[in-house]
Amino acid sequence: MMKLHPDLNTDPQTMQLYNKGIAGQWQPATVIDWNAPSGLDGIEARALGRLITPVYLGEQVAMSGVATVLPQYLQEGEAPEELYLSTMGLDEARHFEALNRLYRTMKVDPIPMHRFPEMFQFHHRLLEVQDKSEWLYGILICDILAKQFYGWIAKSLDGHPAGDLAAHILVDEGRHQAFSVHTLGKAIEKKGDELTPRMLAMRDDLLDMMKKMYVRMKDDVETLGIDPDAFFGTIEDDLERKNKRIGIVKAA
Ligand SMILES: [Fe+2]
Ligand SMILES: [Fe+2]
Repeated sequence: MMKLHPDLNTDPQTMQLYNKGIAGQWQPATVIDWNAPSGLDGIEARALGRLITPVYLGEQVAMSGVATVLPQYLQEGEAPEELYLSTMGLDEARHFEALNRLYRTMKVDPIPMHRFPEMFQFHHRLLEVQDKSEWLYGILICDILAKQFYGWIAKSLDGHPAGDLAAHILVDEGRHQAFSVHTLGKAIEKKGDELTPRMLAMRDDLLDMMKKMYVRMKDDVETLGIDPDAFFGTIEDDLERKNKRIGIVKAA
């Protein structure tokens, strides 16, 4: 039940992430030099704009998901989670707004929704989930994909708007992953038998859809010189490590 005056010391780790979330706020309009050159030629810029598309939609899906699960924590009187998720909602809003600004600055477009059914299916899988732990696990997988992707942009376009933006977003995504791993660990301890098969089904579906999205963007991936095997291999290894930390034992 919702609590009027909850004890906020029930989960110090989540409160620490909440406080880091407050301290780590930043404003895309002022921290990025939007007038700096993009560091890309016209063809590469177009490819980057197309490649960012699933992550761009993902920021909006994450924002909407926070709004779905936050009331569940509120109803269960889990105040630290509720506070933390409020900062995460603002993070995702900022990422979305920053990418919107990046598209306009670079004068490129995302892939239109109707030309990218695989992306719609990927995000629909997340949007249809109502249970907070299942959603959090799906968002963790998206965050791992985002980390890999933003990590590549931050490294390759350091000193340019996209690279600097990615470096800022990466710090926020690190907090999101830490929260998901911690909170899912608690959920698995309580309801592991019930949650594990649903999470593994989510993992299999999302990884499969991620690879289908890649097929759609293969030419853009090649234009930007990304090695897809190394890219997906790192995502799967990272997820495997996190599954172990969470306690999803049938992850192999
Ligand atoms: Fe994000
Ligand atoms: Fe995130």
